[in-house]
Amino acid sequence: MTLTDEPTLGALEERARQRTGAFGEHALIVCDSLVRIYQSEGVEVQALQGLDLLVEEGELVAIVGASGSGKSTLLSVLSGLDVPTAGRVRVGPWDLMSMTGAQRVAYRRSMVGFVWQQTARNVVPYLSGTENVAFPLALAGVRRKERDRRAAELLDVLGVGYCADRRPSQMSGGEQQRVAIAVALANSPQVLFADEPTGELDSATSHDVLEGLRTVNRELGTTVVVVTHDPGVSEHVQRTVAIRDGRTSSEVIRRTQTREDGSEHVVAEELAVLDRSGRVQLPREYRDALQLVGRVRLALEESHVSLWPDRPAPTAEPARRFGRHSAPSEETGR
Ligand SMILES: Nc1ncnc2c1ncn2[C@@H]1O[C@H](COP(=O)(O)OP(=O)(O)OP(=O)(O)O)[C@@H](O)[C@H]1O
Ligand SMILES: [Mg+2]
Repeated sequence: MTLTDEPTLGALEERARQRTGAFGEHALIVCDSLVRIYQSEGVEVQALQGLDLLVEEGELVAIVGASGSGKSTLLSVLSGLDVPTAGRVRVGPWDLMSMTGAQRVAYRRSMVGFVWQQTARNVVPYLSGTENVAFPLALAGVRRKERDRRAAELLDVLGVGYCADRRPSQMSGGEQQRVAIAVALANSPQVLFADEPTGELDSATSHDVLEGLRTVNRELGTTVVVVTHDPGVSEHVQRTVAIRDGRTSSEVIRRTQTREDGSEHVVAEELAVLDRSGRVQLPREYRDALQLVGRVRLALEESHVSLWPDRPAPTAEPARRFGRHSAPSEETGR
């Protein structure tokens, strides 16, 4: 480096800040230790309890979890409707913790689209399919011809071009939801959030809606985060994140493997998520099977960590033992 291109102090500071490698600095969506506490009638509900989640640009991610686990709370935060109590949340360049009201409106109009469980919340009943999709474009000042072109294109991508002139009452639930996805995509958002878009649908129709999201992800390049109860969702997505008690607990990753005869098959593998404080959630079946409760023993082995109840060790003296652990932990052996 020559003296002439020596960086300024400000640039050095900026570089040093970046070099610390902020959590998820290259991800499109970053949730870092998110906490959301609701106060209702004097009772405190911790809907999110230090949730970490990263979503890369172009991903299609499903979020699953029991009722009350915090899925909708997370989506409300990500869609800019709700502000978390603590933590850090960023979507693209938008810091959702510190946005002003005007920025929040701009974020919701330009960066993200939403689809809700209730079909009625997504589409206007007295407008046709085309008019529904064109509506947000009209608000954005797009000309009529371009609006109609965009509406036809999106309805086609979602396989509901034939619903262009129908009103929602003349469409099935699944068709309405696919039109709703087209509405959410009208302004070309970078990210699409869908909270239980298949919640009111039967399994065959759910399949069409989830396939619609997959098509959108693949053909338009939109990053998609979908919350669902649909047990078949992992068939449609590459990554399924499970939330338990307001934290990401495990992920199912689908990978294509090649058999010995050269043919390919898809395998789904469930992995526990180790959070940034070193916590993992031990599945209830594991805890029940070994009656693991309260204190457990952990031992560092050569390639994995063992865990057993606070009773004498089942095998020879482990390599290194940690006597007192009351936090839930789990065996991470492969
Ligand atoms: N506005 C609110 N006021 C008080 N508590 C709330 C509020 N919204 C959600 N909660 C509580 O926060 C927790 C998480 O709720 P959330 O709606 O995020 O769950 P969910 O995973 O979406 O559940 P479901 O699958 O039933 O939709 C629940 O215990 C819920 O009762
Ligand atoms: Mg919900």
